[in-house]
Amino acid sequence: MIRLDKYISETGKGTRSRVKEMIKKGLVTVNDEVVKKPEYKINEQSDEVFISGCKVDYIRYEYFMLNKPAGYISATEDKKEKTVLELIKDSCRKDLFPVGRLDKDTEGLLIISNDGAIAHEILSPKKHVDKVYYAKIEGNVMKEHVEMFKEGIDIGEKKKTLPAELIIISSGDISEVEITIREGKFHQVKRMFLAIGMKVIYLKRIKMGNIILDESLDKGEYRMLNDEEIRALTEMRNS
Ligand code: URA
Repeated sequence: MIRLDKYISETGKGTRSRVKEMIKKGLVTVNDEVVKKPEYKINEQSDEVFISGCKVDYIRYEYFMLNKPAGYISATEDKKEKTVLELIKDSCRKDLFPVGRLDKDTEGLLIISNDGAIAHEILSPKKHVDKVYYAKIEGNVMKEHVEMFKEGIDIGEKKKTLPAELIIISSGDISEVEITIREGKFHQVKRMFLAIGMKVIYLKRIKMGNIILDESLDKGEYRMLNDEEIRALTEMRNS
């Protein structure tokens, strides 16, 4: 048994005081009855709680895979820009955030969660989780560039980047590549190419650790991570 306000608050619907207000206003039902007492004890296994008709699921953490479209910033809210959180429509939670950042014009795999601990650990500079991007590059990417990326690139920081793996898919005025980096420095892929005199004109993340972008998701679509992907997320934490 657990207090109603605690139960709701732990599902990320708001702070304890905010939740108390909602309860006192009569917005909360337990098994179809309005309950106005925050201290009311419920059985988290069997009781059904709704706020304004929206079911409260006692799932502590949620993990979504989003196929981020260009034009959205990786933030929870912004006064001017559209945020990736606006794309997550069918979660009632208020505590979701993007795990890491993709630039506004970058597309592809972005994990959205409310699990702060896992996000913190995965994003720590000490963790070297592989991130794979597909990119279109203005310029002729050649074998010598593959070697340069393997050595790490000077992008104007104290140290070179860690070695990156560059696979050339096609080479020409516009080249197509796949690049794997192990850090998450600001604009890293774009800066690595700029450092060798080339420009990234399209960038899409296709993999992070062992989580692969589900290509059946159209741009802007998302789904919950499956058990295997959640396991992969935990592995990144231990990497
Ligand atoms: N590198 C970039 O330059 N931009 C991104 O969004 C991700 C990696």
